[in-house]
Amino acid sequence: MSAAVRLVRHVTVLSVVGWGGFEFSAVAAARGELTHPALLTNSSNVSGTFEATLTAAPGTLEIRPGVRTHVLAYNGSSPGPTLEVIEGERVIIHFQNNLAEPSTIHWHGIHLPANQDGSPFDPVPAGGRRDYVFTIQRGTAGTYWYHPHLHHRTGHQISMGLVGAIIVRAPDDPIPKSITEKLLVLVDNRFLPDGTIDLPDKMSMPGRIDEENGREGDVFLVNGQIKPTISIKPGEVQRWRIINASAARVFRLAIAGQTFLHVGSDGGLFERPLEVHELVLANSERVEILVRGGAPGSRTTLQTFPYDRYIPQTRPKDWNQTRDILTLQVTRDRAVSTTVPTTLRAIPPLDTMRAIARRTVSLSQGLINNRHMDMARVDITSKLGTTEIWQVENLVGMDHPFHLHGFQFQIIARNGRPELYRSWKDAVNVPKHETVRFVVRFDDFPGKWMFHCHILNHEDQGMMGILEVKR
Ligand code: C2O
Ligand code: CU
Ligand code: CU
Repeated sequence: MSAAVRLVRHVTVLSVVGWGGFEFSAVAAARGELTHPALLTNSSNVSGTFEATLTAAPGTLEIRPGVRTHVLAYNGSSPGPTLEVIEGERVIIHFQNNLAEPSTIHWHGIHLPANQDGSPFDPVPAGGRRDYVFTIQRGTAGTYWYHPHLHHRTGHQISMGLVGAIIVRAPDDPIPKSITEKLLVLVDNRFLPDGTIDLPDKMSMPGRIDEENGREGDVFLVNGQIKPTISIKPGEVQRWRIINASAARVFRLAIAGQTFLHVGSDGGLFERPLEVHELVLANSERVEILVRGGAPGSRTTLQTFPYDRYIPQTRPKDWNQTRDILTLQVTRDRAVSTTVPTTLRAIPPLDTMRAIARRTVSLSQGLINNRHMDMARVDITSKLGTTEIWQVENLVGMDHPFHLHGFQFQIIARNGRPELYRSWKDAVNVPKHETVRFVVRFDDFPGKWMFHCHILNHEDQGMMGILEVKR
């Protein structure tokens, strides 16, 4: 194994309860301290190869204290085990689908061959298995995630618990290994009184609201825990990787009483840190931030502020409430001083002058360019090895987070205002009636790729299109 720092393991205790299911009996760590999903263990002894099995199966988890909830999970936990790999590594994942329906594993944001993308084109039947094989490209260190991508069923399978984090490490990570790292997989969910995950019939009133807004919940989970605590020493700096794995909720994250450094997004680190008071994390986006511990013994909270992404008719009544996500507890240890790098890495700009095509992609409720997804249709054909500029226009009064498979892009402008810094993105929120322009280069991997709204209800309604990159 490499010398890269792996996240501290969280041991979950699993006991089989028949029909390939599982029962989760891990005891929450003392004082509700945030725990990490287990790391997926590498079973390969070939150097440079990471090999493991991921099994999707139904089972029971104790999400709320004392209440058993029927879930779907990878290897018996939700979030599933974290796939932690190093740039250049070859990854072989044996996927065993023990669900009662077809599924896939999509490697959200990873640059890989189209037939390994786990897209709706390649469903794995109930009881079936397949291998995903791909190589982690150089320069792609960052935070990604994996989830099912079955056409019309993605929202259901993710909401039932099928999500997991991916961490890609660089051999030359500019952030010192001495800095403690935390992973935060953020999910909101909704439960019936008996503990069942509340997924109403689409035709019912709550079901229709979910279809319009995207399904939100009143229970906020960080790595499956409700309002956990992160302990930090006075003056200590921690690196937090945050994934918004919610079906629809947009987080507007702030730490009460302090700023933090925004150091990275979907495709990894920025060129230099940016000090911010808050940041908006739309559905499927990731960020990396550096957080500093305050006065000894003090305590603050990571909160999500109200964010109005809704049309007025279906805006939830309590949308304007600030919610607590977790407690940040400063210990009474002696203060430490951590120095933070002022430059991180170079992000080579994609050359907009070389763009050979400019495209407009319009978003309206449930539709892209006025059409529903058709698996048999190609919406956009691009040439391998070329650069393009895409303008994504939201024509309606509700935000739609836009995601492109397979390729990281660079945002050039939002609503006509030039983007102030460069970063690699695979998802971007397009607010009501606004426009986002990005540049993308299709340097390799021909094939058919999805682009879609990442509000899962919208995606499942067919707010998705197909890009074919051709030789
Ligand atoms: Cu997060 Cu099409 O996927
Ligand atoms: Cu994706
Ligand atoms: Cu949408």
